[in-house]
Amino acid sequence: MFGTSKKIRYAVVGGGQISQQAFMPGVGRTDNSELVALVTGDPKKADKLASHYKIKAWSYDQYDALLKSGEIDAVYVATPNFLHLQYAVPALEAGIHVLLEKPMASSVQEAEQILAAQKKSGAKLMIAYRLHHEPGTVEMVTRAQSGEFGDIRMFSSVFAQNVAEANSRGHNGYWGGPVPDMGTYPLNAVRNLFGQEPISVHAVGTKTAGRTFNFDDTVAVTLRFPQDRVAQFTVSYATAPAESFDLTGTKASIHASPCFMFGPKIGIAYVEKTAEGSKEHSFAPVEQFGNETQYFSDCILNDRHPEADGEEGLFDMRVLAAVERSLETGEVVTLAPAQRSRHIQPDQALKLKPAKQPSEDEMIGIIPQSA
Ligand SMILES: NC(=O)c1ccc[n+]([C@@H]2O[C@H](COP(=O)([O-])OP(=O)(O)OC[C@H]3O[C@@H](n4cnc5c(N)ncnc54)[C@H](OP(=O)(O)O)[C@@H]3O)[C@@H](O)[C@H]2O)c1
Repeated sequence: MFGTSKKIRYAVVGGGQISQQAFMPGVGRTDNSELVALVTGDPKKADKLASHYKIKAWSYDQYDALLKSGEIDAVYVATPNFLHLQYAVPALEAGIHVLLEKPMASSVQEAEQILAAQKKSGAKLMIAYRLHHEPGTVEMVTRAQSGEFGDIRMFSSVFAQNVAEANSRGHNGYWGGPVPDMGTYPLNAVRNLFGQEPISVHAVGTKTAGRTFNFDDTVAVTLRFPQDRVAQFTVSYATAPAESFDLTGTKASIHASPCFMFGPKIGIAYVEKTAEGSKEHSFAPVEQFGNETQYFSDCILNDRHPEADGEEGLFDMRVLAAVERSLETGEVVTLAPAQRSRHIQPDQALKLKPAKQPSEDEMIGIIPQSA
């Protein structure tokens, strides 16, 4: 479709924290992708952020015109979750490829609509699971899948931070809250480490005294998988930062931390324990946003179907929706047995060098996540 020197031209939709801090600098590390446009509702970003990257700014009212302009090949959608559908579907319908931030949408129905639009269109859709291209994560998944840790029996994880109520995450109900936002990481990790889909879900949530979130800000989730495997994760918007997971098989256990975050100084690491002793595995920080963009553009340029496709996003979404139902009813929610057709492959790991990230003070018009 394209010559070998072609670069995929991206428009960033939503100039929020993740776009400014990570995606926009990260694209500069790729050799097959370039930023050409910013879609924003903030005049200051349209002026200063767009001119910093020497790209054109468009308003949300001009979105359809941008999609038809011939000036872009792909969009990176990084709006709050409740707007993913609104920007992903028209792009796919216009034949524009979509790199869509996680979680895929804010309901299973919306995710199904996005997937249907992708299937109807010739355009490609990838959910921005940056860890699917991070070497340490890919190694843990590959080793778990090959049986090196024995028969995997259990997984447990914590992922937490102290979120400001003023951030869009802080007041948009369950789908802006910690389970879809942060729980997606342990959920996606365990689905890939087990290579299976959960068959039942139970969740318990609490609201921290003194905080004004309009949802449970701390949630513990228990999942049952086929072959009597079990998993648990706890996520919170109301504590000090924490991130780790433990995976235990019949031959070895691993403790991974850091395991979900990104940044120029964050390298994924895990300790493996067997009867013989323990061994540390540490990985150099990589440009996680550049890596996923490099991979997605490569899929577009070579007409390959991305691994973290709409089905992968939807399989997380149906579990997130089951957690919501369990929080509402207090009941265990049963999920129909399912099997994913694709899995993370070792050659998905990429090693672009981390780009420099702007500090919070250098970013324009953001409401920082952290309280
Ligand atoms: N992959 C990762 O590691 C990672 C990390 C963090 C977040 N994310 C995902 O990325 C997405 C954005 O997160 P973020 O932290 O960047 O959020 P954010 O700072 O709140 O930014 C979202 C941006 O969306 C735009 N927007 C358009 N309509 C809006 C509305 N009605 N209300 C609020 N914002 C609106 C705004 O940009 P303009 O002012 O330019 O219009 C806003 O700055 C979420 O889906 C999140 O889950 C992914």
